[in-house]
Amino acid sequence: MKELKTEKTVDKKRVYQKSKKRLFKPGNMLYPLPVVMVSLRGKDGRDNIITIAWVGTVCTNPPMVSISVRPSRYSYGLLKETGEFVINLVSEKLVPMADACGVLSGRDMDKFDHLKLTREKADQVAAPMIAESPVSIECRVKQEIPLGSHSLFLAEVLSVHVDEALMDDKDRLNLSSKALAVYSHGEYLLTGKKVGKFGYSVKKKKKKT
Ligand SMILES: Cc1cc2nc3c(=O)[nH]c(=O)nc-3n(C[C@H](O)[C@H](O)[C@H](O)COP(=O)(O)O)c2cc1C
Repeated sequence: MKELKTEKTVDKKRVYQKSKKRLFKPGNMLYPLPVVMVSLRGKDGRDNIITIAWVGTVCTNPPMVSISVRPSRYSYGLLKETGEFVINLVSEKLVPMADACGVLSGRDMDKFDHLKLTREKADQVAAPMIAESPVSIECRVKQEIPLGSHSLFLAEVLSVHVDEALMDDKDRLNLSSKALAVYSHGEYLLTGKKVGKFGYSVKKKKKKT
């Protein structure tokens, strides 16, 4: 009997649907990503801000984050020199400033002054926080791993500063109350639509009595 043409392939016990995905060459496609403004202060006292999308949370205890920076960036030298930085989350109002900090260089200007951003004193590091940012995270570099185009900095979180406006009436943090910027394949988007909460998909519904 003639075999029927099918859109499925069978591999031992598994049945696979024919892929509808287009094959791309290997590259960065892990999107969306948070986009953050990283503030630094050099040993010479000059401040800078670099926009970073290659950023991540890498450990809960101790709290650790990562940023990947190209050695050609002015900020790379500052990171190597001081090992300290502040991650500032980006609100809707800050998106144009974040973009500007991602195309201008601290070699040519003071980005705080140029973009009229306000320096706020941090607790643990010399680098200033950005006052206009809703959340600022002070960090100290623990390790640098050169990877190729970028160097990965693993850093410990020393202190976290959150805008009072993000606290609800029961004094609990409601981070989702503020739209934050994410970066996706060359574009900026905003968070905002809540579609569930941690564990909600398996949570048993309370029986009505
Ligand atoms: C949305 C966005 C994301 C970026 N992410 C990174 C990144 O993760 N790592 C990096 O080295 N550069 C990244 N850049 C580029 C730097 O921010 C940019 O080269 C900046 O001008 C460097 O500033 P500096 O010379 O003052 O250090 C990004 C730029 C933009 C606009």
